[in-house]
Amino acid sequence: MPISPNFSDLMKPDIEMKAFPDGDSYVRVMGTGELKGKEARVFHRLYPEQDKAIFQAMLMLDTLRKAGVKPVLVSPYLPYCRQDKIFLEGEALSAELLCRLLKFAGAERLVTLDCHFLKKEGRAEYGGLAIENVSMGNALVEHAKAKVEGEQLDVISPDVGASYLVEAYGGKSMEKVRGAYAEGKEAYRKIEKLERGFEVKGKNVLILDDMISTGGTMIRAVENVKKGGAKKVLCAATHGFFLKGSLEKLRAACDGVFVTNSIPSPVSEVDFLPVLKERGLA
Ligand code: R5P
Repeated sequence: MPISPNFSDLMKPDIEMKAFPDGDSYVRVMGTGELKGKEARVFHRLYPEQDKAIFQAMLMLDTLRKAGVKPVLVSPYLPYCRQDKIFLEGEALSAELLCRLLKFAGAERLVTLDCHFLKKEGRAEYGGLAIENVSMGNALVEHAKAKVEGEQLDVISPDVGASYLVEAYGGKSMEKVRGAYAEGKEAYRKIEKLERGFEVKGKNVLILDDMISTGGTMIRAVENVKKGGAKKVLCAATHGFFLKGSLEKLRAACDGVFVTNSIPSPVSEVDFLPVLKERGLA
């Protein structure tokens, strides 16, 4: 199983990765001869430095493919996954292009976690790429339950996009509406409204999402349920970027925040590797 250096927190890496003096990536996948004719899982994170990490993945995949190996890329977070719809004429459909590129480079399949555009667990195809989408929802909910020590816990999502993560627990979703892109160079659509059509008064609540990026969604959701009289408020997501100081803000605003180690962070309390192992994917 070829393992990238950016997986070294979880497994012993054996892919050699360097940079040429001008910054070009150098990749060498060891032991390709032994893998010839077989399917081999390649473990490589595509975040941070996503554009570089994507190109490194393509170098690995192409090298394996040329050596007669059938590579299955295991990348817990798929960058560009939120660019799966066109809002304005001329916008790039980045999620689809990325999948096409991974397929073109040689990926037999992509194994990933709570991929934003898939909305359910299991096998799918997008941009011609076969994807195995594994949900961390159950592991995150179980982790949250331990934090409320046997008390009742309501699992909710901050928008309908993440409703599949909470439905199995009878959870409801808030409604989030984003506005137009803000002026300036940052591609960001502000949250116009985040509304809740259900009661949380006196309840312990876990707000569960596929990702916490700038934290804008989660912070609004915490404010909302606190205002609604929730007792204990926990926040969790599969992928935690915690941009713009949002980890500190969330920690101050609620009773606990945690994510998986798909992107390592100080609150990566839930390990995704055992979940992949259980399913024979790692
Ligand atoms: C969006 O639909 C996603 O499920 C997340 O709610 C969103 O991407 C989180 O982004 P942010 O933390 O910047 O609000």
